[in-house]
Amino acid sequence: MVAEVVELLGAADVVVDMTVGAGGHAAALLDAGVRDVVGVDRDPEALARAETSLAGYGDRVRLMQARFSEVDEDVVGRTVGGVLFDLGVSSMQLDEGERGFSFRTDGPLDMRMAGAADDEPSARDLVNELPEGELADILYRYGDERRSRRIAAAIVRRRPIQTTDELAGVIVSAVGRRPGGPHPARRSFQALRIAVNRELEELTASLPHAAGLLDPGGRVVVISYHSLEDGIVKRSFRDDDRLQVLTRKPAVPTDAERDANPRARSAKLRAAGRVEDAA
Ligand SMILES: C[S@@+](CC[C@H](N)C(=O)[O-])C[C@H]1O[C@@H](n2cnc3c(N)ncnc32)[C@H](O)[C@@H]1O
Repeated sequence: MVAEVVELLGAADVVVDMTVGAGGHAAALLDAGVRDVVGVDRDPEALARAETSLAGYGDRVRLMQARFSEVDEDVVGRTVGGVLFDLGVSSMQLDEGERGFSFRTDGPLDMRMAGAADDEPSARDLVNELPEGELADILYRYGDERRSRRIAAAIVRRRPIQTTDELAGVIVSAVGRRPGGPHPARRSFQALRIAVNRELEELTASLPHAAGLLDPGGRVVVISYHSLEDGIVKRSFRDDDRLQVLTRKPAVPTDAERDANPRARSAKLRAAGRVEDAA
């Protein structure tokens, strides 16, 4: 949804891109006339990509490795005209088997966006150590997986599970596979990724910081891919006296965008502006 992002943030002097990834949105904003971009990502591999892809913009780009919940006005050193969040994982992370995000590519069951050097628990830790009930709750809550109890029971029976292939196999044998239907492990993998990276807690903590980071008239734009994320964004914008909602209904991708990028199918974009006289 690059066109909407550029339309909403292209007139800002400085934009903090909280999820810089490979730098696609950042480059579009710089090309549209944004003077400087501060690019944040918790993934050192994503930052290395962004460093290469944005090298041509020289000192108009500053990159920092951080969780976005840690980034506020003090960390950036000033207030800015725009803040962008493009949530979730990148296709780069999904495609890299070694990162353990995908049920399609075999690899160690990891899923930490900050990489294996991170000292937070990995997907392997959750899958092998959580009590069955907690595991089922994660699959149900973050993956809308209605067969969560059956899957959690199968996982506990088959522990230890070390790889993405092993986990996908356990799920398929627990619930079967419908020809032509979505892969039965899709929802469980999404749920584990959200839990491992504490994605909802990150978003909840970060949105108030983003409002505080804005100049009067500045804008915050969030693209989310899951109804739980969208609900957090909607409520946080609505309940923050410093913000005025700019998108009563969220913007969604065009048919062409959906066709070009299946991951974008569930995307929802919401924006809010900082009111002039906020305390
Ligand atoms: C969908 S991708 C962003 C793609 C980017 N907009 C582009 O144009 O290339 C999401 C990125 O956000 C990062 N990310 C997700 N949660 C984060 C968090 N809490 N703090 C910092 N980065 C995060 C991921 O590591 C990933 O690189």
